Amino acid sequence: MTRHFDRTAVAFCCLLLGPLVHAQAGADEAWLRYQSLPTQAVAGLPHLIATVGRGEVLRTAANELARALGQPATSGGARATLPDALPDQDAFVLGTLKDFEPLFPKLGTRRSMVGDGFWLKTVNRAGRRPLAGSIDSALRRPRKYWLVIGGDERGVLYGTFALLARIAQGEDVSTLDDRETPSAPIRWVNQWDNLDGSIERGYAGRSIFFDNGSVESDLTRAKEYARLLASIGINGCAINNVNADPRLLGPDFLPQLARVAEAFRPWGVRLAISVDLSSPMSAGGLKTFDPLDPQVKAWWQNTVDRIYQQIPDFAGFVIKADSEGRSGPSKYGRTAADAANVIARALAPHHGVMLYRAFVYNHHLDWRDPKADRAKAAFDYFHPLDGKFLDNVVVQIKHGPIDFQVREPVSPLLGAMAHTNQAIELQVTQEYTGQQRHLVYLVPMWKEVLDFDLHVDGITPVKRVVSGQVGKRPLGGYVAVVNVGLDRYWLGHPLAMANLYGYGRLAWNPDLSGEQIAQEWTRLTFGNDRKVLATIPRMLLPSWRMYENYTGPLGLQTLTDITGPHYGPGIESSENNGWGQWHRADPKGVGMDRTVATGTGFIGQYSPQVQKKYESVDACPDDLLLFMHHVPYTFVLDSGKTVIQHLYDAHYAGAEQAATLVEEWKSLDGLIDRARYAEVLRRQEYQAGHAIVWRDAVVNWFHQESGIPDAQGRVGFHPHRVEAEDMQLSGYTPVEVTPWETASGGKAIACTGQSLCSATFKFDRPSGTYDIAVQYFDLNHGESRFDLFVDDRRIDSWAADDHLPSDKMNGHTSTRRTVSGVRLRAGDVLKITGHPDGGEPAPLDYLEIVPDVAASHFSN
Ligand code: GCU
Repeated sequence: MTRHFDRTAVAFCCLLLGPLVHAQAGADEAWLRYQSLPTQAVAGLPHLIATVGRGEVLRTAANELARALGQPATSGGARATLPDALPDQDAFVLGTLKDFEPLFPKLGTRRSMVGDGFWLKTVNRAGRRPLAGSIDSALRRPRKYWLVIGGDERGVLYGTFALLARIAQGEDVSTLDDRETPSAPIRWVNQWDNLDGSIERGYAGRSIFFDNGSVESDLTRAKEYARLLASIGINGCAINNVNADPRLLGPDFLPQLARVAEAFRPWGVRLAISVDLSSPMSAGGLKTFDPLDPQVKAWWQNTVDRIYQQIPDFAGFVIKADSEGRSGPSKYGRTAADAANVIARALAPHHGVMLYRAFVYNHHLDWRDPKADRAKAAFDYFHPLDGKFLDNVVVQIKHGPIDFQVREPVSPLLGAMAHTNQAIELQVTQEYTGQQRHLVYLVPMWKEVLDFDLHVDGITPVKRVVSGQVGKRPLGGYVAVVNVGLDRYWLGHPLAMANLYGYGRLAWNPDLSGEQIAQEWTRLTFGNDRKVLATIPRMLLPSWRMYENYTGPLGLQTLTDITGPHYGPGIESSENNGWGQWHRADPKGVGMDRTVATGTGFIGQYSPQVQKKYESVDACPDDLLLFMHHVPYTFVLDSGKTVIQHLYDAHYAGAEQAATLVEEWKSLDGLIDRARYAEVLRRQEYQAGHAIVWRDAVVNWFHQESGIPDAQGRVGFHPHRVEAEDMQLSGYTPVEVTPWETASGGKAIACTGQSLCSATFKFDRPSGTYDIAVQYFDLNHGESRFDLFVDDRRIDSWAADDHLPSDKMNGHTSTRRTVSGVRLRAGDVLKITGHPDGGEPAPLDYLEIVPDVAASHFSN
């Protein structure tokens, strides 16, 4: 029920709480699951929601509150009478500061409230005496109001979500007086969606925005996404790939974009798009895209004006230029500032902004040149342009100087643009960090980056630089590449959503800790059960370091296939090419010398205090040692271990820890709904297996390269392993795997030209209970089937039906299947049969038969 009446500028409406509105089937509600609101927290809250004002975002806020607290309508909700124009019963009252002032003149609302900020405040009003002869006793009652006051309408919405988050976490909201202001005005996400519906570096299904060259006709998921984004304070979203398709700027596309903007608008999320700098040619038919050409300038102006006619609240553009083959201003001898400013000038009258990416580097570097260094590129290119950008240009800088590796130092460019608006670019989509098949909670990494002191002007942590505080800039902030897809859980792994949530929370308040965010997110996503609350943060918090341990510690960066899908191990792929993600491992040592004294000079791009930290090999923190220095394998770390022994130990420790995540999660059986429980378990079991693939590939490679044995004797020693190529084969043939380190012994077996093959061997170890792991390859085509037999008794069967990112046998596709607690007797015959399918030759690497210690313990 909604009521309106107007008085001067103040519109006032009341909304009685109605039944719960359900989200679109198919999309998980992530951290917005109001069904778990603790009843005691809801009990004392009012049943009436009043709004002061009429805006669309304000209405959304009121509806969200109703949706969350949905209860049957009660009596009351009587129209408040002027002149006080406030409800005569307890109520939530939502509105902007400006609209609140006439109603609450004594509140002191004039105290500063910035833009998207909010103020949650409870106010008690004494009862009024009834007029002589009145029968309206309601007027006598004292009333209490829960005010949600926003600096603007978005602020009201953010305040509402904040209030709901507190209620959902069981906090007492009976007395409130809290103000919050976001740390920075730019709090955006980027989606790298293509018009055909695919997503570059997306790991959770197809685009929620595009399909088959057009905007999706059903934008339900886009609306739900905007709701999720709003709930964490995100106010802008660029929906298409930074490798932008010029068709987006065509006249027929604009009405389609306007539909997306419409879907976002109620949630205060402004639409942005990525554009290609050559659009004046490719979309506009001009003969040039030289930014300083008058026709080009006019083209941008017309294009921008056209956009604003249909999308008046359009946020602006993101540009990737002169990078990875994209066209750019260098073609005409112009700078990034020339290019950015021309477009920014067109956007300025409409209050639009231009986010110009600093991810500019030459990917044809000469790998033999010891001074060549991709890490230096962004600083070399952009630092001389500091101060040359217009006020509505923001330079969007990746947090590290390379490309979202598992560990990088902070980009020195962040400390070198004091006269330029800057936004830090983070990555929620786990491109180099396990692609949401591995649990990697990235908030602790981002915290390290944001808290890192660049020492450019006294104490200058990155978070103060990007908020614009250091250089007193009008704009600045945060961008994250998110790449949600049509997957039910948005990012594939339900626990990966902690990263999206954490990103928004940090952009709002970078002083929050990784622990706080993990706790908050767990409560909101899984409820307030104590065991759940203890376990999930315990899984999340160490997961980044764990992943680093088994994929590239000591600043090696993720040792993945850098010219491929950036997923599984591929240690040599980064070397001998122009891409510049080199680790320069050779038989004597490892690491990239980036010192000023003898190396590429990268360290010289930092302030003197930071240089001091990195330039000397002794002072350099172990975490970044090999990013900054080339050292012998026998170099001794702060820990007292040699570099090579650390590499071995870290990989074994990381893989062991990944296995414990499975047990941690299993301890929550019965405390989490079946669907999410099963999905997470499946992924954790997969991760535990793939961590072993990583471990073995990296340690074997360094073992071979350095020739130095593992002091603990683990590397190359697999007493429980039976290589598939050593088994008795029927139909299967041995094949070499490339790169060699991604298969045990460098070889596997493949079943080609047959419909059924088998590999058999006689178990010759003591009778007992064992866990049997089968290591096989699951290519992205075909669905081979496997059966495992003990003495002709089938004990397991499964299909290789995952969609891993390769059609070859390698570190991306190597997968483990484990059967636990199998009773085996000496002399038993174990057999695996493989049924190839669709060109996938049921490939097998090895079997590992490990005594089941727990089972033996119980049976003894
Ligand atoms: C990485 C990523 C690319 C992406 C690029 C970018 O290199 O692998 O897919 O286009 O970053 O950020 O522009």
